[in-house]
Amino acid sequence: MDKSINELLSALTLAEKASLCAGLNMWMTKGIERLNIPPVHMYDGTNGIRKTNSDEEMGITTENVPATCYPTGSAIGSSWNTELLHEVGVALGRESKTMDVELLLGPGVNMKSTPLGGRNFEYYSEDPYLTGELGAAFINGIQSEGVGASVKHFAGNNQEFEKMVTSSEIDERTLREIYLSAFERIIKKSDPWTVMCSYNLLNGTYTSENEHLLNDILREEWGYEGVVLSDWTAVNDRIRGLKAGLDLEMPGPANYNAKAIIEAVQNGSLSEEQLDRSVGRILKLVERVTGKKDMDSSPDSDYHALARKAAAESIVLLKNENAILPLGQESISSIAVIGRFAKKPRIQGAGSAKVTPTNVDIPWDEIKNLAGDATTINYAEGYPEDDSINDEIIKESVSLAMNSDVAVLFVGQPEYAESEMHDLQGIDLPEHQVKLILAVAAVQPKCIVVTSSGSALAMRPWVQHVPGVIHSWLSGQGMGKVIADVLFGQTNPSGKLSETFPVKLSDNPSHMRIRGENGKLYYREGLFVGYRYYDRKELAPQFPFGHGLSYTSFSYTDLEVSQTHTGVTVSFQLKNTGKRKGKKLFNCMFTMKSAHGPVQRKN
Ligand code: BGC
Repeated sequence: MDKSINELLSALTLAEKASLCAGLNMWMTKGIERLNIPPVHMYDGTNGIRKTNSDEEMGITTENVPATCYPTGSAIGSSWNTELLHEVGVALGRESKTMDVELLLGPGVNMKSTPLGGRNFEYYSEDPYLTGELGAAFINGIQSEGVGASVKHFAGNNQEFEKMVTSSEIDERTLREIYLSAFERIIKKSDPWTVMCSYNLLNGTYTSENEHLLNDILREEWGYEGVVLSDWTAVNDRIRGLKAGLDLEMPGPANYNAKAIIEAVQNGSLSEEQLDRSVGRILKLVERVTGKKDMDSSPDSDYHALARKAAAESIVLLKNENAILPLGQESISSIAVIGRFAKKPRIQGAGSAKVTPTNVDIPWDEIKNLAGDATTINYAEGYPEDDSINDEIIKESVSLAMNSDVAVLFVGQPEYAESEMHDLQGIDLPEHQVKLILAVAAVQPKCIVVTSSGSALAMRPWVQHVPGVIHSWLSGQGMGKVIADVLFGQTNPSGKLSETFPVKLSDNPSHMRIRGENGKLYYREGLFVGYRYYDRKELAPQFPFGHGLSYTSFSYTDLEVSQTHTGVTVSFQLKNTGKRKGKKLFNCMFTMKSAHGPVQRKN
């Protein structure tokens, strides 16, 4: 733009200003040619770029311009690694530039307060601190490349059921300590160019016109000066929205609302200053986007390699009884690979975050590559696509497992169960898969289960009968190779659960409020979200928040805890006592010191 924002505000007509407050179409803001104001191109981007084939395409398109598919939020959240999130953010920023994308609609940082949330796979964790640190690192990475980010969905959007008409009823303390805290950290540490409001109401008012949320907290208290945009069609009353600080309505055009804005200014119910504030912020966004456009776009980066690296830090080894893993410690002449996900892995969730990947590693192919010619690998599909009970398929799997040295089962939540727009019905595996695991484990003691899902799974009916469990989450296009690497010990797993896996759904504190009543969803568990509840209740989960095994072992000595005026300092000597290299994770999240200098790492 060749004029300053103030000059542009004086040059724009009222009608032009009103039109700038909504998109031109699904994915662009409106430009004003006569004043050289270009449009901004934005697309979804939580774990990869979802750029539609046309800017007019409505709804959730499934075939888009191919782009790298990284691990989804809950997967990469289990890396606990801010450096990794930054690196993925940088890569996304670079890839965006090669695709003419100027603003990425992500990350999603809502709290996973119920394991049934249909979009849980997009979100990092049940913990606000972890979420805030990871989200800020990711945004700093994207924006360092001159591409904007949009942190979403602000706020109190923790389930899909009737979200457009449901009010999240959250008391002020819980709101601030649990549901806003990650947003606050992100705003302060990474200054996202935009914030996307959510669909729901918060304590009785739509977030798209919520004065307390957008003006008092976001702008006044946290000092946010960027653009607040609506989730797609989340605007209720446009004038109330503008007054509360909702700058940009998406998608557009919103001719009816543009007319309403003009009338409101003319009849005095909206001041022109209020309108100018929003238009000024939108112009600032245009300035930010265009100002960085000539930055190098490095089209030749190996994004697939980064997708594999990210998957390697996401996958969590949940159980490894008698060191059954990695395979290959004893010679193996045959492996039974069972389950459709071995050939058709679930690498991501469904909905607006779904990316068309550039390349997908298939676990079956990668296992065959690593096992080598001396090992026979056989496959059985394990369960039908619709998960209906089919005893013949189970029998075939059992006989294969019986006649092999080891069985590796690929199971998980089916895609139809876990998606934007609807919540999960439960957190157990489909009945057929449970029957399959029990039947195979009964004949083959060397039974490894690889699970896939974007949210916590209940495993009690079967987990005690198998020695090895790897949770692969939905870890993006590099996941298949990494699963094989973990199975054969080429990668030492280092992921740590970013959420609690309860024994059963009803152990979760949100269980009594699922779905809400008469358009109100009371967050009755208050502060006791996730591990806070299990700790307080002294209720053992199946696998706690932070759980994740390694192929090496560590010892901790000289533990000291001291209180300082800013908090508590914990120091200890950490030693890798095993034979394999371990993963240095902690100093990415926390700064650690000990009486003897920095914590020592011996790999
Ligand atoms: C989702 C947003 C997304 C937008 C655009 C909405 O339905 O809630 O997360 O960015 O669509 O696809």
